[in-house]
Amino acid sequence: MQVSRNLYFEDEVSEEKFNAFMLKRLIKYAGEYKGTYIKVIIMLIVTSFLSLIPATINMYIINNILPQNGKVIDDVLTQSVIMLILWISLSLGAVFSNFITSKLSIKMGNDIVCNLRKDLFDKLMELSFDYYDNRPTGKILVRVTNYTDEISNFFINDMTRVVENVFIMIVTLVYIMFIEIRMALVTFLVSIPVFFLMWFLAKKLHEKVRNDRNKNSNRTAFVAEDINGLEVIKAFNRERLNDEIFEELSEKFLKAHAQTTVYREIFFPLSHGVIRTLCTVILYMTALFITTHNIGAGLTLGALVTVTTYMQRFSNAVFVVCQRLQSITNVTSNVERIFEVLDTPAKIKNCENPIELTDVKGKIEFEDVTFSYVPEVNVLENINLTIEPGQMIAVVGPTGAGKTTIVSLISRFYDVQSGKVMIDGVDVKEASLESIRKNIGVMMQDTFLFRGTIMDNIRFSKPDATDEECMEAAKKVHAHDFIMNRKDGYQTVISSQGTELSAGEKQLVSFARLILADPKIIILDEATSNIDSETEKLVQDVFNTVLKNRTSFIIAHRLSTIRNADRILYVDKKSVLEDGNHEELVAKKGYYYRLVNH
Ligand SMILES: Nc1ncnc2c1ncn2[C@@H]1O[C@H](COP(=O)(O)OP(=O)(O)OP(=O)(O)O)[C@@H](O)[C@H]1O
Ligand SMILES: [Mg+2]
Repeated sequence: MQVSRNLYFEDEVSEEKFNAFMLKRLIKYAGEYKGTYIKVIIMLIVTSFLSLIPATINMYIINNILPQNGKVIDDVLTQSVIMLILWISLSLGAVFSNFITSKLSIKMGNDIVCNLRKDLFDKLMELSFDYYDNRPTGKILVRVTNYTDEISNFFINDMTRVVENVFIMIVTLVYIMFIEIRMALVTFLVSIPVFFLMWFLAKKLHEKVRNDRNKNSNRTAFVAEDINGLEVIKAFNRERLNDEIFEELSEKFLKAHAQTTVYREIFFPLSHGVIRTLCTVILYMTALFITTHNIGAGLTLGALVTVTTYMQRFSNAVFVVCQRLQSITNVTSNVERIFEVLDTPAKIKNCENPIELTDVKGKIEFEDVTFSYVPEVNVLENINLTIEPGQMIAVVGPTGAGKTTIVSLISRFYDVQSGKVMIDGVDVKEASLESIRKNIGVMMQDTFLFRGTIMDNIRFSKPDATDEECMEAAKKVHAHDFIMNRKDGYQTVISSQGTELSAGEKQLVSFARLILADPKIIILDEATSNIDSETEKLVQDVFNTVLKNRTSFIIAHRLSTIRNADRILYVDKKSVLEDGNHEELVAKKGYYYRLVNH
């Protein structure tokens, strides 16, 4: 299946219907915390019991302690004090057990979501580039942050409240049954259509919430992209236009959100109100019917008051259950998205029993390689190449010819459609990814540095390297001097976009980072394009020393770099059109010759 290349203004398609399966899966996720969950449920039951008993005490007080027809019972004081103490103890007990329940469920909810977030992050690290090629980062971001937050709320609040209130519903019904079976029957009958109505509303709400999420995710994606491209936006005076796009996306979100709110804040409370009123009316009608028709045993005043209280608790519990069920429907929308990420197979992953590449010599072979990013649009076709260990290869060709693509295949950033890429005779698909990446040092066209000090950034490729080793690497690539000229030297903090450094300086820092890892195969994609020709001369030295005894691929435009190479590959028209050293290719008077003369 071809994934649509999702843009900020396109909703992500979801084929999932609201289903209990998602919830089941989420709950299964919490399997590890079964013990805590059982404790939470026990505590909930205790809390509900404690909070339900006082109404029965009320019945006892009304029927047995309060003066009946003006007659006061003998031990009224003792009985009142006992009831009061009982009443207060039960209420305090309920408060205390509620506190314990909340504490337990908060911890459990946070632990589960912490695990979920970790898995999600692991997955995002594992997924190959094609996943990211297909959707904006903003959309991925909301999944790791907002969506998971709501799931934690699900475990802490929704799920516990549903269990608690289902329990209250059962208990109150049984209580009412004991006190007045006829009223219990009425209560039960009333609750059936109420449930159906609430379920219908919850389902509708789910659709609205899904739309709401999509619009929110679109807006976030746009903001994330705008922040990344701020320089371009300013340079082209696009602020106004982008403001308008943002407003439009916000409006769409607000509209979707308003619809959700109407369901959540109007339909639900409205139906709750109607149901409560109906219940009370039906209850009193029943009471009236029983008393006026003198059916069976009469109704005591205490029983009527208590049944009314329990009826209120019952209807409240129905409402809370439905309200929480609709929150759960919100969560299922999020869960769908999160499991969708977790279920995405990483296209690039280790095969079973991968081969560890040890003591790599650096022989690279392409055997009839065909590759495409998008199905049926080949970028490379039938490429055959054999690169001997230690050779320095310059890759040249027009823009978009596939130079970056060819070198990406060696590190197995993407998988070939057909053919084979081999390192030391081992197909990269059969080698362990860790060992491939450990042996290949890559410096891509757009260097990326992380927020932190220059020292941290160099150490990135070898976390256990000492300061001296990092400085040694910086010296090798002639970055040491410019770093030392900074007030804070190696401790200079740079932002994630590295805006504090010039483009050339950034490249030197990344070059130092690469050299520190000491890889056997080196890939430099326009790595020195921004370095001035003075420094370039120095770097050229580095090439001669550092690249010695390593296989290297250098994509460059500078003739000085290219002509030094052992071999030059001229890439265009989906294949390698020319292959040879500078002199040979110039003599050939073909593509390369024309390029040089340009
Ligand atoms: N992630 C991607 N998804 C789809 N198409 C891509 C992707 N990356 C590159 N391409 C396409 O593949 C072709 C080769 O791209 P590549 O980046 O290899 O070119 P290049 O030779 O490195 O160009 P340049 O000199 O501009 O860096 C181009 O047509 C490009 O549009
Ligand atoms: Mg390129």
